[in-house]
Amino acid sequence: MEQNVLTDTNLVGYGEKYVGKVRDVYRQPERLILITTDRHSSFDRIIAHIPWKGQVLNQLSVWWFDQTKDIVPNHVIAIPDPNVTIARVCTPLPIEAVVRGYITGVTDTSLWTHYAKGKRDFGNFTLPDGLQKNQKLERSVFTPSTKSDTHDQTLSPDEMVASNIISRGLIDTIEAVATALYERGAAVAAERGLILVDTKYEFGIDAGGELMLIDELHTPDSSRFWEASSYEERFAQGMEPEYFDKEFLRLWFKEHSDPYRDETLPQAPADMVEELSRRYLSIAERITGEPFEPGATPILKRIADNISSYAVH
Ligand SMILES: Nc1ncnc2c1ncn2[C@@H]1O[C@H](COP(=O)(O)OP(=O)(O)OP(=O)(O)O)[C@@H](O)[C@H]1O
Ligand SMILES: [Mg+2]
Repeated sequence: MEQNVLTDTNLVGYGEKYVGKVRDVYRQPERLILITTDRHSSFDRIIAHIPWKGQVLNQLSVWWFDQTKDIVPNHVIAIPDPNVTIARVCTPLPIEAVVRGYITGVTDTSLWTHYAKGKRDFGNFTLPDGLQKNQKLERSVFTPSTKSDTHDQTLSPDEMVASNIISRGLIDTIEAVATALYERGAAVAAERGLILVDTKYEFGIDAGGELMLIDELHTPDSSRFWEASSYEERFAQGMEPEYFDKEFLRLWFKEHSDPYRDETLPQAPADMVEELSRRYLSIAERITGEPFEPGATPILKRIADNISSYAVH
């Protein structure tokens, strides 16, 4: 059978390889070869490979980078292949720039969790009493967190400056840029009948000292999307919004394994993997308004051909 899933890469002559959860990154002095694979992570490990997910994430990010380049420069140099971005090497800033337009979430770090426990003063903003879960905020809020291997910590900009994580000038700039990016993203999503609920940006500093948007942008892995058409009615009835859902796959693993402990995991059911693939494709098609065109297979061979001019020697 044709290989139609990109699990990992092992390219020689393209620089030092760094393996992220989703991306394989080949580092050269001035540029990175960022290959977005089909790996799907959860519980801090790879739980499945989702056909076309890497292509979807790469192309959707590229699309958004183009839509927002008037707000802030980004790391994109070239896209030689559907799964590959040639990017400017930057020094990543040690924060995740999170912007939220709605109060939601169930995890420890989510805004709704803090609010439900009574928190109103978040340092750089306060929230009024009486908000309901999933309610739209009067204006978006900036809730940056530290980047850490163990667990990300939400800190206010003042706390970040006080802890010497980032300078005052830089965090203020990032807040302004991230807010503008969120507003642009939300406006574009709204034209497509989608709500951009919240999102996470990564920034870096390039060799010339300039602030750059890096990594990925407004993808279902970095952002939450809800269906706009049913939001109001469902919110009024106390129902959860219709959302882009990959939770079903997480739940399956929770039911069929101990994903934080088991050395090897069972294989996800093929129909669930296909369903998730369809969801990634369809949300990307909705956002961009362009039909998804699968790249040629085998993917790895195609990538090797397409990036050959970026070899280091
Ligand atoms: N232009 C850039 N310059 C430097 N680093 C970048 C750039 N763009 C992305 N990165 C980094 O490359 C990596 C992309 O890999 P991936 O998205 O798989 O990582 P991750 O799983 O999110 O994070 P981790 O690094 O913890 O594995 C991230 O560490 C990201 O910060
Ligand atoms: Mg990442």
